[in-house]
Amino acid sequence: MTTTADQSLWLAALPAQSRPPLVGEHAFDVAVVGGGITGLTTALLLKRRGLRVVVLEAGRVASGVSGNNTAKVTALQSTVYSQIRGRHGLAAATDYATASVAAVAQVAALAKGIDCDLRRSPAVTYAFTESEVRDVDNELIVARQVGLPVRATKNVDLPFEVHAAIRLDDQIALHPVKYLQGLADQVDGDGSRVCEHSRVLDVSGHRVSTSDGHVDAAKIVMATHYPTLDRGLYFPRLELTRAYCVAARVSTPTQALAISTGSPSWSISAHEDKLILAGQSHPTGKTVVEPFRRLEDFAREHWQVEEITHRWSAQDPTAYDHLPMIGSYTPGNTAVYTATGYMKWGLTSGTFAASLLADLVTDKPNEMAERFSPHRVSLKSLHALVRKNAEVAAEMVGDRIAPADATSSENLLPGHAHVIRDGLGKTGVYRDEAGQLHGVSMRCTHLGCLVRFNAAERSWDCPCHGSRFDVDGEVLEGPATRPLPRKEPR
Ligand SMILES: Cc1cc2nc3c(=O)[nH]c(=O)nc-3n(C[C@H](O)[C@H](O)[C@H](O)COP(=O)(O)OP(=O)(O)OC[C@H]3O[C@@H](n4cnc5c(N)ncnc54)[C@H](O)[C@@H]3O)c2cc1C
Ligand code: FES
Repeated sequence: MTTTADQSLWLAALPAQSRPPLVGEHAFDVAVVGGGITGLTTALLLKRRGLRVVVLEAGRVASGVSGNNTAKVTALQSTVYSQIRGRHGLAAATDYATASVAAVAQVAALAKGIDCDLRRSPAVTYAFTESEVRDVDNELIVARQVGLPVRATKNVDLPFEVHAAIRLDDQIALHPVKYLQGLADQVDGDGSRVCEHSRVLDVSGHRVSTSDGHVDAAKIVMATHYPTLDRGLYFPRLELTRAYCVAARVSTPTQALAISTGSPSWSISAHEDKLILAGQSHPTGKTVVEPFRRLEDFAREHWQVEEITHRWSAQDPTAYDHLPMIGSYTPGNTAVYTATGYMKWGLTSGTFAASLLADLVTDKPNEMAERFSPHRVSLKSLHALVRKNAEVAAEMVGDRIAPADATSSENLLPGHAHVIRDGLGKTGVYRDEAGQLHGVSMRCTHLGCLVRFNAAERSWDCPCHGSRFDVDGEVLEGPATRPLPRKEPR
């Protein structure tokens, strides 16, 4: 591991034994690419409709973002309803609420018989400062308009005063890795399969290929979190945001699933004797100074922390118009589907995406299909699209002419990185704790933006579409699929 973020609280529950990879030639009704909540829920729903399904997971089931989050399954999601109403109107916010409420019920139903530490708890959106009160008040109004049984309260299970809060009872906290392993167990068998260590390298027509095998399938679902196929123009329409999490053993963990509306936002939940605290979000490729320390300081300020047990981080995409994208991969395509853009609420929206995808794959009408279509045009949000792409263009040009940090790595301290000009290009150099230098080309192998060093995780992150690489250039997260070329450090 070359990143500093320890594994998440949840990943410790991965079974020691992997599921066998795909080898050889196979045929299934449906190939699902990606073993996170979207892929596994879709696969199980399709299997229950009588289809033979294969899930192809690049790593381990649930080791993507679905195993690196705060594990809240809730229809109350910070200020999501005010945001959607502002951009798309009340009908869209109501559809999102209807889908989210159904997803919470769906998770509860699917979790029956899976030992995944599921507990019911209120979800809370709160104002940590006076300046956040207006957002909380607005969200209360819109949440009521969309039909959620929310109520205003100041009496929340938090060890500090809140200025305002909304509460929605009977939401869910669970162990996401145990839940997803349970779903995978139900998918595997009776003609369906879940394959681990099976990275899909190509999708061509109805054929899906990994390094060791091929699947022919009538339908293909790309549930890879960020759409990785170089078609459909997803890259300019999605923005990735990274956030950090710590788990701390505390004397009395807060049980509510709480999140504040400001920036920084403080997201709080609990598992057994541990508090889970998340926040310090930033667009991938930009950085925040010492995000873990800031979270730990906040935890120590408000709880009696016995020990910080885990640190992890992850990223999630948001569409330029702030609605998930669920549907055919390209307009009119009836063979390949995808779902993405969950705005850090994908345990809920990945579940409703799965219901919609299962209907689309089996040609069953679904009244939400148009609402969440990836090919909708959101006129009110076009300015956000233009802004985002202007920023990407500026990254592509600006970074190339920016000066390098140094001419040699002689004085580079262990645990630090800097940039050295290398002819017309730039080399990113990192010195590890043992003193060894690691050099990589800084040109992202996706579309050529220059990567930046993320000190919190010791990774090179791309500000354009969120690809991440370790200090030796290996891909940590796509859309890039090829490593950064190694360079001789100077
Ligand atoms: C810090 C943080 C906290 C969050 N907390 C919450 C929360 O409390 N509640 C909530 O609802 N949501 C939360 N989320 C969001 C939620 O976790 C995600 O939206 C959701 O898990 C996404 O699920 P997924 O199945 O789309 O992606 P993933 O879980 O990432 O699954 C995609 C899978 O595809 C695999 N894959 C990728 N490429 C390939 C390939 N080429 N071939 C084969 N496999 C491939 C990956 O290995 C991965 O396992 C949080 C997100 C963050 C960043
Ligand atoms: S240029 Fe697209 S992720 Fe780097």
